[in-house]
Amino acid sequence: MSENEHPELSRRDFLNEITLGALGIAGLGGAALTYQYFSPNVLFEPSTTFRAGSPDLYPVNSVTFMQEQQVYIVRTTDGFFAVSAVCTHLGCVTQWKPDADMIACPCHGSKFHADGKKIEGPAPRPLPHYAINLTADGELQVDKLQAIKADQVLRV
Ligand code: FES
Repeated sequence: MSENEHPELSRRDFLNEITLGALGIAGLGGAALTYQYFSPNVLFEPSTTFRAGSPDLYPVNSVTFMQEQQVYIVRTTDGFFAVSAVCTHLGCVTQWKPDADMIACPCHGSKFHADGKKIEGPAPRPLPHYAINLTADGELQVDKLQAIKADQVLRV
């Protein structure tokens, strides 16, 4: 084996290589920070309007919890309404208790009827109702930005 096949690095070459490597790493870090700085810092929130499917999915006299939306779709003999599942006390997510025929808050014990009216507990207000209507293609649609009076029912 000759010396030309594996030339030894001089101390100066070695230090130059180390310096170039360090500068390269610092440059990549700086580029990453610059990219992050100029990227839009946007929080995407879920839509406040959602489709709840065909009315046929809901039996008469049923309460269906839409977990992702935190809304109850309630169907009575009169029609449909959508009730918030978020407790008006401190914002815990309530639970429908079919055996007791009521909505209960696990945090401090507020209880509500299926139509959102308060039965007992520290909640200061009933659970709000949201606008519910039928889309052109016949599906239920709820708008959580639009609170409506509790006596408004969607008749289907
Ligand atoms: S958050 Fe529901 S009773 Fe307190």
